[in-house]
Amino acid sequence: MNYTYLLYAAGAAIAAVAALKLKSRLELSLAKHRSLAGHARWSRRLAKLVPFYEYDEIGFFTADNAPDDIVARRRTGFAQLSAMFARRFPNSARLTADAQEGISDLQFTARYRVPFQFSRYVRERLKAGSFLTSSSGVTITDADGNVFYDLTGSYGVNVLGYDFYKECIASGSEQVRALGPVLGAYHPVVSDNVKRLREISGLEEVSFHMSGTEAVMQAVRLARYHTRRTHAVRFCGAYHGWWGDVQPGVGNPIPADYTYTLAEMSEAALHVIGTRRDIACVLINPLQALHPNTNAPGDSQLLDSSRSARFDRDAYARWLQRLRAVCTARNIVLIFDEVFVGFRLARGGAQEYFGVRADMVTYGKTLGGGLPVGVVCGLAKWMRRFREERPADICFARGTFNSHPYVMGTMNEFLRRLETAEIKSLYDNLDSTWDARARQLNERLGAIGVPVRISNLSTIWTVSYTQPSRYNWMLQYYLRAEGLALSWVGTGRFIFSLNYTAADFEAVAARIVAAAQAMQRDGWWWSAPALTNKSIKRRVMREMLAQLGR
Ligand SMILES: Cc1ncc(COP(=O)(O)O)c(C=O)c1O
Repeated sequence: MNYTYLLYAAGAAIAAVAALKLKSRLELSLAKHRSLAGHARWSRRLAKLVPFYEYDEIGFFTADNAPDDIVARRRTGFAQLSAMFARRFPNSARLTADAQEGISDLQFTARYRVPFQFSRYVRERLKAGSFLTSSSGVTITDADGNVFYDLTGSYGVNVLGYDFYKECIASGSEQVRALGPVLGAYHPVVSDNVKRLREISGLEEVSFHMSGTEAVMQAVRLARYHTRRTHAVRFCGAYHGWWGDVQPGVGNPIPADYTYTLAEMSEAALHVIGTRRDIACVLINPLQALHPNTNAPGDSQLLDSSRSARFDRDAYARWLQRLRAVCTARNIVLIFDEVFVGFRLARGGAQEYFGVRADMVTYGKTLGGGLPVGVVCGLAKWMRRFREERPADICFARGTFNSHPYVMGTMNEFLRRLETAEIKSLYDNLDSTWDARARQLNERLGAIGVPVRISNLSTIWTVSYTQPSRYNWMLQYYLRAEGLALSWVGTGRFIFSLNYTAADFEAVAARIVAAAQAMQRDGWWWSAPALTNKSIKRRVMREMLAQLGR
C-alpha cells in the first residue's frame, strides 16, 4: 500500500516538474519574435539551404516583368551610370581590384552590397572603389580625387567630425610620446580617463578593451560570474559585435547555447525575464529603438520594399524603464551596449537620452578619439574579477593592448574636448535639428513623387521605400554618382556627424533628391497592380525552389 502510494507520489511529482518545464519552454517560445530573425536556430538552418543563382543580362533588367519601354530606360540609365563610374573612379577601382584577392573582408563586403541575384552583374559594371586618401570637414576624398559627403560615419565612430579626431590623435599621441608603446603599467592619463568615464556613465568602475566586441564579451562574462547564471538575453535583431554568444543566428557557424533571443518591447519577453532563473544579463542596443526586432538594415536584404523603421522615443523609454524594474527585481544585470550610440545621442549617451540607468554600459568606437577601443563601465559589485572568500574562483580578462598609451592619450583628448563649449554646443537642439532635417527632406521627396522616405534616430538615418520594387538597392549607386559616400550596407544606414552645418546638410539633401529623381527617370521604380511585396517574395521563393529542384 505504502509502496503504491510512493509510486503515485513520484509519478505526480515527475508530471508536475514536466508540466512546469513545458510551461516555461512554451513561455520562452512565445517570447520570441515571430520573424525568422527571432528564431536564431531556424534562421541558421534555413540560411544553409538558400541556393545561389543569379540573373543573366535580361533577367537583371526584368526581374519584375516590367514592359519593354521601361526595360529600355533601365538599360540606358545603367549604361550611363556604368560609363560614369568607369570615368570617375578608375584608380580607386583598380586599387580595389588589385587588393581584393588578398583582403577577405573586401571580398565579403563587395559581394553583399546588393541582393545576390543581382550582385555579380553590378560588381562587374558599377565598380565602387574602396580606397580613400583624405578627409576634411564632412567630406572624404577618394583615390581619384573625387570629394564625397560622408554618410558612412566610419561605422559610427565619427560623431564629432573627422578633423576633431585628427586633432585627438595628434595631441593624444603627443601626450604619451615619451612613454611610447609600454604596456602593462599605465600612463598617468589613464587616471583622468577613469575619473571622467565614471562621471559620464554614473558607474563606479571601468575596464579597458580593444574593441566593442571585447567589451561586450567582458560585460556578459562578468554578469555570468557574479550571478552564477548561464544565459544572456539579447533582443531580436540587435547587433552586439561578432562574438558567438551575442550573434546566435546567421553568421555564426555554431549555435549559441547560452543565449536567449527574445522579442523586444514585448510583454511575453518581460514575463520570461521576470520568471526564469537562468538569466544572468539582459543586453540592450539602444539603436534598435529605430527598428525594434529587425536586423541592421542592409541593401543586400532589399528583395522588396518591406523594410520599415519608426522611432518612438517615449515608447522606447517606457520599455527600458520596465526592463530596468524587472532586472532589479530579479538581480539580473542590465547592460546597455552603447558602443554605437554612446556620445552620439547625448553626452551621457542612451542612459541620459532615455532617462534610464544601466548596471553596466559598454562603449567603444568614438570614445577612442579615432583609435580602436572598447570600454566597460559598471557598478563595483558587477565589475570585480575575484571573490575575497574564494581566491581561486576568478573571472579572467586580459588583452595585451588594453590601455595602450596611445589609445588612452587620444581617449583623454576626446573626453577633455567633450567638455569644451564648442563641442557642447554641437549637442544643442540635436534631435529637433535632425528631426526637422529628416521631415523636410521627406516633404521634398514626397513632393517630387519618389517612393523614398527617411526614418531617423537623431543623426542615424535609414531609408525605406514606399512602393513595391525589386530595385531599391540601385539607389546607393545613384547616390554615389551624386557624390555621397555610403558604407557597404548602402541606403540601410546613413550616419551623420554632429558637425554637419545647415549648408552641408542642404547639399546632401539636394543630392539625395537628385539621385532619387534620376533613378525614377531611369525606370527602376516602375509599378503595376500585380507588383506587390508579396508577389515579389513569392517569385523569389519560386526561383529558389526551382534551383533546389535541379
Ligand atoms: C552596439 C554595438 N556593440 C558592439 C559592437 C562591436 O564593436 P567592434 O566593431 O568595435 O568590435 C558594435 C559595432 O558595430 C556595435 O554597434
